Amino acid sequence: MAVELTVNGEHRTVDALSDTPLLWVLRDDLGLTGTKYSCGIGECGACTVHLDGQPVAACQVSLSRAAGRSVTTIEGLAGDDGGPHPVQAAWVAENVPQCGFCQSGQIMTATAFLAHTPDPDDAAIDAALSGNLCRCGTYQRVRRAVRRAAATMQEAK
Ligand code: FES
Ligand code: FES
Repeated sequence: MAVELTVNGEHRTVDALSDTPLLWVLRDDLGLTGTKYSCGIGECGACTVHLDGQPVAACQVSLSRAAGRSVTTIEGLAGDDGGPHPVQAAWVAENVPQCGFCQSGQIMTATAFLAHTPDPDDAAIDAALSGNLCRCGTYQRVRRAVRRAAATMQEAK
């Protein structure tokens, strides 16, 4: 079945079964492999994308649920000037990744979180990112990067 949706600002038509997980549509049909597959059961956060601005586990969203809606993946993140999003820049500055596998999901959750919580404390950061697991244990650097991004975004206002 042909399903229409917007991905990273572009109108896309995907021909796939309606119950196909959005994660497979992004990776296999659209070639957007920055979104990672890990647990496949909604428990790890590696596949986090934005659906109409809200963070969701793409492995748990069917194509039919995404129909007509706007999806943003790590490839579609950008700052207001078209350069890296402040969260991406903070991730680089804090040298967050180790193996990197969980990181696109971490960044997508962090950007959605900071969009509505501009000045979070550590407890709020930990709570917001509690669904994003990192086997390499980068949590301290993730927290620092979120704080850095929040400060940058506040300064830019
Ligand atoms: S792969 Fe989707 S939550 Fe783990
Ligand atoms: S950086 Fe390796 S799993 Fe998070």
